[in-house]
Amino acid sequence: MMRKAWLTRLLPAALIVAGGLSISSCEQYSWAKQEVPQDLTVSFSETVQPFCQGCHSAWTVDRTYDKLSANVDTVTPGSSRVLSIHSSITAFGSQMLQIDTLLIPATDVIKLWASQGAEKN
Ligand code: HEC
Repeated sequence: MMRKAWLTRLLPAALIVAGGLSISSCEQYSWAKQEVPQDLTVSFSETVQPFCQGCHSAWTVDRTYDKLSANVDTVTPGSSRVLSIHSSITAFGSQMLQIDTLLIPATDVIKLWASQGAEKN
């Protein structure tokens, strides 16, 4: 009896400690904001287009490019219409895209691509 009571009291405490440790150890990997290198080139075909097709699966590469280039602002990428169209679709805003070893928010990737001239690269 004594033994069991001891266990039921200690186990939750141990789980809380273990949980806390795993959260804090995650922090340095996935939650820290990564610096985007100045010279990082965003590829339409490798990064942007597969992201769009995740939802717009029926669109060809050409159609996706036409839709996107018509809706980005290369001078002020932050005001791109493609961002406001999707602002209420949380899966768009919260998605992270991988470029090399970096994980970058999809919205930042599109802004960067727009600032680099919105090329069909
Ligand atoms: C998380 C899902 C999702 C992703 C990712 C996504 N879209 Fe959309 N998009 C939608 C939904 C939902 C709508 C509104 C319904 C519709 O028109 O299909 C929409 C609408 C649009 C529209 C306006 C309607 C039209 O057909 O002209 C454009 C333009 C557009 N998306 C372009 C893009 C481009 C370019 C990308 C990639 C950068 C992209 N979307 C990525 C879900 C997404």
